[in-house]
Amino acid sequence: MLILIFNLIKRICWEVYLLFTRLPPTQAWVDPREQALMVKYIQNFKREQRQQKISMVEFGAGSSTFFFSSFVDYYVSIEHSLDYCRELERMAHNQSHRSVIIFYMGRNSSGFYIKRCFEQKSLQSDQTSRIEIYCVPRNAYSLAAYRLWATGGRSTYTMYRDYIDFLSVYFRDTKFDFAFLDGRARPQVAYALLKQLNGPNAKVFIHDWNQREAYHIIEREFYNIIDQQIESTQSGGGGLVVLEKKFENIGQRNINDIEWKYGKEPDWWI
Ligand SMILES: *[C@@H]1O[C@H](CO)[C@@H](O)[C@H](O)[C@H]1NC(C)=O
Ligand SMILES: *[C@@H]1O[C@H](CO)[C@@H](O)[C@H](O)[C@H]1NC(C)=O
Repeated sequence: MLILIFNLIKRICWEVYLLFTRLPPTQAWVDPREQALMVKYIQNFKREQRQQKISMVEFGAGSSTFFFSSFVDYYVSIEHSLDYCRELERMAHNQSHRSVIIFYMGRNSSGFYIKRCFEQKSLQSDQTSRIEIYCVPRNAYSLAAYRLWATGGRSTYTMYRDYIDFLSVYFRDTKFDFAFLDGRARPQVAYALLKQLNGPNAKVFIHDWNQREAYHIIEREFYNIIDQQIESTQSGGGGLVVLEKKFENIGQRNINDIEWKYGKEPDWWI
């Protein structure tokens, strides 16, 4: 009974919130110089690859989803927040020329399955790519109160297990040319992503590199920085690095079984 009332109140609050808030900006929420660096890599690759279709995956959906997807043929975005996914439905409505599909995912012992989905078919038959967004909720602290209590600490694998593992389960045989990490648990996602990258030259972009030193572990252990744009003074840290994996076969182990080469596993990792 209490839960019912709580959910009803939550629903009303959400509707009120929708009434009084404006849409998030449709420009990607990164510094324009960082955005330009990413676009440069994608366009150079497109020039070299002529016929081949270009695929990109993103962790942490948002305005960046609508922006970067227009440069590639296939765009997959993974988001942990259900509330934000509803916000994305609203953003999609405002971009009726884009084909957008948002899957709300569940998981049971046989794997991930689609609970429900939102689909917007493009009104015009333009050539821009289809956007696929997968909402994969976090595992721990799903109650709002816990979430508030747990903010501030680093995201661990335990909290975001499904979100981190989603690609390697649901897209086991798909390889991506580009990845953009702008969501939760970026270091762990970067590790899990290693086996989904299309060859040794696939690029991973990580946002907010500047002040978040905990992220730098992935440079010591798993990736080389090949380019960067770190002059941004954006709130949240800003700064973008372009990474390639250190060697071809890195990242085959499960996240619990990594052999750390350059130190101990950080205490927030698992
Ligand atoms: C769509 O977004 C633009 C700005 O990006 C805004 O001016 C316009 O009012 C929005 N349209 C709707 C239907 O929300
Ligand atoms: C998992 O969920 C899917 C979709 O609802 C269902 O078809 C399947 O039988 C479920 N598996 C188990 C083991 O519950």
